[in-house]
Amino acid sequence: MTIDKITVVGAGVMGRGIAYVSALAGFQTTLVDVSKEQLANALAELNTIAEKAVARGKISHTSVEKLFHSLHTSTDLQTVVQETDFVIEAVPEKRDLKKQVLEIVDVFSPQQVVIASNTSTISPTELGSYTKRPERVAAMHFFNPVHRMRLVEIVKGLETSANTVGLIRKVAERMGKETVEVNEFPGFVTSRISAMVGNEAFYMLQEGVASAEDIDKAIKLGLNYPMGPLELGDLVGLDTRLNNLKYLHETLGEKFRPAPLLEQYVKAGRLGRKTGRGVYDYTNDSEMVKK
Ligand SMILES: NC(=O)c1ccc[n+]([C@@H]2O[C@H](COP(=O)([O-])OP(=O)(O)OC[C@H]3O[C@@H](n4cnc5c(N)ncnc54)[C@H](O)[C@@H]3O)[C@@H](O)[C@H]2O)c1
Repeated sequence: MTIDKITVVGAGVMGRGIAYVSALAGFQTTLVDVSKEQLANALAELNTIAEKAVARGKISHTSVEKLFHSLHTSTDLQTVVQETDFVIEAVPEKRDLKKQVLEIVDVFSPQQVVIASNTSTISPTELGSYTKRPERVAAMHFFNPVHRMRLVEIVKGLETSANTVGLIRKVAERMGKETVEVNEFPGFVTSRISAMVGNEAFYMLQEGVASAEDIDKAIKLGLNYPMGPLELGDLVGLDTRLNNLKYLHETLGEKFRPAPLLEQYVKAGRLGRKTGRGVYDYTNDSEMVKK
């Protein structure tokens, strides 16, 4: 099956990045969101990313022109998926919401279309059960920021066919990504480790073990992580991190109980970079800690 048209559902932190690598790879890409504002923000951010990439000599002006020629936006999911070859879902990590979106995609898109979810933790078997084509559903887990991170984790559900895995791998490779194939288990490989480390860093901050900057510095320089766990949390979104932890706590037990300080930040609306403030403060891009 030839894949030409890709629909990305959700224009948030991840969906916009996925749409960028998809359009850059030459797929006719439509980014769909319920919010016009999010779509406008997404296009503005992708423009900035493309400009920086040109300035660094990573891509040419012609590629950027082609990219924006291949990239479309819409708020009408039902209509868009009627003429699509492949769907990537990137709405928030809430089962009810994913169910609602997958049901619409299942009803309105052609039967052969693969529905890949960018879920960080949710069972692809469960996601497949929301549709009448579980053999064409799997997790296609990208990493943040999508245009820089090289991996896509492909997670098979109970009914996912080998053909679906093969198609997802081809799409990911055309987007310039490496893939790993993972059997279903909550949190897959990467989210499970990342949630554990990020949560532990929050417990340390709460216990006053060290300042946020020193926790991040210790992990970066002492353990050779490219980013500290707290700055990574701000990049991922603290609400997303909390949703992941809640799911892992429910499925894998006590060791994933979310740190109360993390819950408090989310309640306060300190969600990280996307709201201008999380563990660190990004207003004026100062990145100074304000606790
Ligand atoms: N943030 C990360 O670092 C990261 C990394 C890997 C995977 N993920 C996963 O990717 C998914 C998306 O996360 P995110 O961080 O991009 O979320 P986000 O909150 O930044 O963006 C979600 C977007 O979905 C839109 N949306 C909500 N309901 C919708 C609907 N019914 N139809 C269309 N659009 C809708 C919202 O308006 C928003 O723009 C989640 O499953 C998350 O677990 C996130």
